Amino acid sequence: MTLLAVDDLEMRFGDRLIQTGVSFKVERGTIFAIMGGSGCGKSTLLRHLVGLLPPAKGRVAYNGVDYWTADEAEQSVLRTGFGMLFQSAALWSSMTILENVCLPLEQQAKLDEKQREARAREVLEWVDLAKFADFYPADLSGGMKKRAGLARAIATEPPLLFLDEPSAGLDPISSKRLDDLVLSIRERTGCAVVFVSHELPSLFAIADDGIFLDADSKSPIAHGSPSALRDRATHPTVRAFLAREEPPPARPADAPTPPSTARPEP
Ligand SMILES: Nc1ncnc2c1ncn2[C@@H]1O[C@H](COP(=O)(O)OP(=O)(O)OP(=O)(O)O)[C@@H](O)[C@H]1O
Ligand SMILES: [Mg+2]
Repeated sequence: MTLLAVDDLEMRFGDRLIQTGVSFKVERGTIFAIMGGSGCGKSTLLRHLVGLLPPAKGRVAYNGVDYWTADEAEQSVLRTGFGMLFQSAALWSSMTILENVCLPLEQQAKLDEKQREARAREVLEWVDLAKFADFYPADLSGGMKKRAGLARAIATEPPLLFLDEPSAGLDPISSKRLDDLVLSIRERTGCAVVFVSHELPSLFAIADDGIFLDADSKSPIAHGSPSALRDRATHPTVRAFLAREEPPPARPADAPTPPSTARPEP
């Protein structure tokens, strides 16, 4: 069943078009990858999906309810269904890890302070940070910060998790550990996951489906699971990214698309 449907989304900053014609669906319990080169608009797309930034055009619907035309009360209810791990982990530096993880639980009126703390400790256990509950973010390694951000995102057990480059900057062992954690959280809670990643092993290991955004044409150029795209995509940019083949020649940023009659460069 479709949990999230994105239909003909257009993303721009002022006059600058970032992406147009972005459409995809995320089914319940699946892991969906947003792929594409640096600066193509992946983080911006996540901001449109989680209600932080309205798109220039198009629909973002949760269980058939269009987020951006819903009233504020409806939007706030829809937001309780998301958990988000930002690219930078975005932990509050003046709060301990435990306090950071307790924050989203404060929206849950049915839990008192003791229950919130117990739940936060339980989630920290899942991500193997129970012993670091009273540490501050500055005292944790990059991988631990990402795991703390993940704990905060899953604390309320939302049906949909958004993860922006969860394993970027981590060594291969920490990165694999984070992938395994995402899979085990999906197993445990049945949530769907939308994640942005450049890490090929992560993409192949955990994503069931995905979309590839292209910075040159400013539109999606492929849909499918990363491993299917690696094996079957024909677009040279997708092949360069997923199959490590020779990339197409670079064009300067914002240069007009060359006419199709243009002779190939020598
Ligand atoms: N608030 C903003 N105002 C104007 N332009 C912005 C803003 N945020 C992002 N951009 C521009 O939009 C484009 C897409 O940015 P975005 O951060 O979404 O890319 P990305 O695909 O997440 O890149 P990366 O892989 O490096 O994280 C970039 O060219 C960026 O400079
Ligand atoms: Mg980004």
